[in-house]
Amino acid sequence: MSTAVVILAAGKGTRMQSDLPKVLHPLAQVPLLAHAIRSARFSDPDHMVIVAGHGFDRVVKAANTFAPDATVVEQTEQLGTGHAVAQAKSQLADFDGDMIVLYGDTPFISDTTIEAITAARANADLVVLGFHAADPGRYGRLVTQGDRLERIVEFKDATDAERAITLCNSGVMAAKAQDLFAWIDQIDNSNASGEYYLTDCVAIAVSQGKTATVVLCDEAETLGVNSRAELAQAETAFQAKMRADMLENGVTLYAPESVYFSYDTAIGRDCLIEQNVVFGPDVTVESGATIRAFSHLEGCHVSRDAVVGPYARLRPGAELSEGVKIGNFVEVKNALIGEGSKVNHLSYIGDADIGKGSNIGAGTITCNYDGVMKHRTEIGDNVFVGSNTMLVAPVSLGNNSMTASGSVITKDVAATDLAISRAEQSNKKGMAVKLFEMLKKRKAKRDLEKS
Ligand code: UD1
Ligand code: CA
Repeated sequence: MSTAVVILAAGKGTRMQSDLPKVLHPLAQVPLLAHAIRSARFSDPDHMVIVAGHGFDRVVKAANTFAPDATVVEQTEQLGTGHAVAQAKSQLADFDGDMIVLYGDTPFISDTTIEAITAARANADLVVLGFHAADPGRYGRLVTQGDRLERIVEFKDATDAERAITLCNSGVMAAKAQDLFAWIDQIDNSNASGEYYLTDCVAIAVSQGKTATVVLCDEAETLGVNSRAELAQAETAFQAKMRADMLENGVTLYAPESVYFSYDTAIGRDCLIEQNVVFGPDVTVESGATIRAFSHLEGCHVSRDAVVGPYARLRPGAELSEGVKIGNFVEVKNALIGEGSKVNHLSYIGDADIGKGSNIGAGTITCNYDGVMKHRTEIGDNVFVGSNTMLVAPVSLGNNSMTASGSVITKDVAATDLAISRAEQSNKKGMAVKLFEMLKKRKAKRDLEKS
């Protein structure tokens, strides 16, 4: 069965007290919307439609980043969840498959839940994802008869007896797309909120002899973000789950609570992650690597048995081959570092290619930016770059070449050559003692003048 997913993301999120649309607030360093998109992908959809309204242009931009294949449609007025889904109709007019509705502010819907919903569609025309709430609060209540769902009643419209129901609506719903659009056409807004409730589809479908059922999930999965406090809770929940998954999968964390992961961090078995490490988006670390304390990684790849940190920063495009060593206060950006090469101390390596077995001395800097353009530095295999070398790009160092400490390298260095570029040293006989005496006298004179 082919599937379309519609993600509702038009709401303002008034309680966020923010100029940023709610779905763009970051969780695990990427917008909430990116998490919903991830859940959507679990159904392997043929179409993804995002319904945006508040901050439309910014939502489009985020959608282009995290789901370039998605279409974003505009809901200019937020007239309710049913009205929101109806905005996707023009995009899916000829679509014959199933439709799953997700919320852009609900980041934890899992693959197993999406699978359960898809499976349940075999026995019901309409499937709603529900959960037993510890505190059902203002959630919509699911009115059931045996294992059949009869209708959903919104909190505002519910009687006391209905409010006593603890089985709640998560908002996730699935049906044949054209069925759902047809039911939505029949919804009105004569209710306590004056909105077109998507939830009214259930009673309409049932009244037409269709069957509706509930798939259950854990309450934690349906956690929606409506306020900064809930965003903070979501972050805590996300990190707790990530840390537990990492430990489960054979990663050692000395202090799990001090390590922060992004939504897509992938770490292999037998890696060691020390204290206070932060992972930004798009990081993969292969088996056996060590990330030492206080390091920050984003958009990078660390191969087997590499060691990073302490206090290292890997930025987007940093690609470390097997056994590479990146030490303290080293920053690497958009650079490929070949097998076994070492950049151990106080260096900036940006826009560079380094071959195998090279050693980059302390304080080396690739001067990659001339104020207008970026340039590359090419370093071959088994190169020895002396401490405090400035490599003024574009520049290259051939295999087995060497630079002398303190050199400013502006011309290419051929294989096996040694480059020295610094003022020549001259030693003045006994001059240190004389200079010292002179300075002492000068100080004594000044002290005398002051007193
Ligand atoms: C909705 C459900 C409720 C459920 C709850 C779960 C309805 C009528 N109610 O209530 O049964 O328990 O979610 O969290 O569906 N949105 C739009 N356009 C609109 C309105 C909403 O895109 O016109 C989006 C919002 O941005 C949000 C989602 O739909 O992502 C849910 O809307 P919200 O207003 O938060 O619904 P609830 O009142 O929480
Ligand atoms: Ca809500």
